[in-house]
Amino acid sequence: MQFVDQNSLIKPEYVPESAWHKHSPFVFWLLARLKPKCIVELGVHNGFSFFVFCQYALDRLRAGKCMCYAIDHWQGDEHAGIYDTDIFQKFIQHQGQYLEVSKVIKSTFREGLSYFEDESIDLLHIDGRHYYDDVKEDFNDWKRKLKKDAIVLFHDTQVFDSGFGVHQFWAEVHKEFSLVFEFLHGHGLGVLCFGDGQSLPITLRKFFALSGRQKDSVSAVYHRLGNEVHFEYLLKAYGVQFDSS
Ligand SMILES: C[S@@+](CC[C@H](N)C(=O)[O-])C[C@H]1O[C@@H](n2cnc3c(N)ncnc32)[C@H](O)[C@@H]1O
Repeated sequence: MQFVDQNSLIKPEYVPESAWHKHSPFVFWLLARLKPKCIVELGVHNGFSFFVFCQYALDRLRAGKCMCYAIDHWQGDEHAGIYDTDIFQKFIQHQGQYLEVSKVIKSTFREGLSYFEDESIDLLHIDGRHYYDDVKEDFNDWKRKLKKDAIVLFHDTQVFDSGFGVHQFWAEVHKEFSLVFEFLHGHGLGVLCFGDGQSLPITLRKFFALSGRQKDSVSAVYHRLGNEVHFEYLLKAYGVQFDSS
């Protein structure tokens, strides 16, 4: 199936604790289709999603450069918890493997804006603090930095407690943009095209046009593939032994 291929089966090489594990299969597929040159992540924490981007960028280095920018103050927040400095130390240690394809901006998201030209970003992942006002501010601050037809990912569109307001903002942007897709598993991942999609590869345009049973099938496959990534993390983290024969 064109919406699921060998890229969807790539294993993330670094799997620290994260609420984002279940989205790596879809995002590896998306990256292979989109071929972004500039990826920005707002909200990095241990780096799970960020190192998925870096893994892709390093793999395709010979085909052309893709830079991944990690922006976080590494102080934590009300939703992610408040951090010790060792989280950042561990992140930086791992980032050493990806110096060719990544840069770290240890700052607030607002301060990070000055590092980027307008209309320079191909893929923006918004995963900072999750109150409605935060997500709205992050999107509105950063949209001038997006290229036409850039892809924006919003994590946690399906969390409805603890004051999370991504779902509310996602419902609003739905009305403004016509090319949107939402995965309901893994706390929800909103996928948005910032434009009419005319410059997107045809498969991505078809992806946004999916509906009905075909859309449900693609969602179900990525839910299952995502569960596997999370399950392998649980096995390692909690030392569960199982017979893999
Ligand atoms: C949900 S975590 C990111 C999770 C990560 N993407 C993953 O794969 O697990 C949110 C992060 O956003 C950071 N953060 C929240 N608000 C911020 C702000 N205004 N400026 C910089 N960092 C912020 C927090 O320090 C936290 O590390």
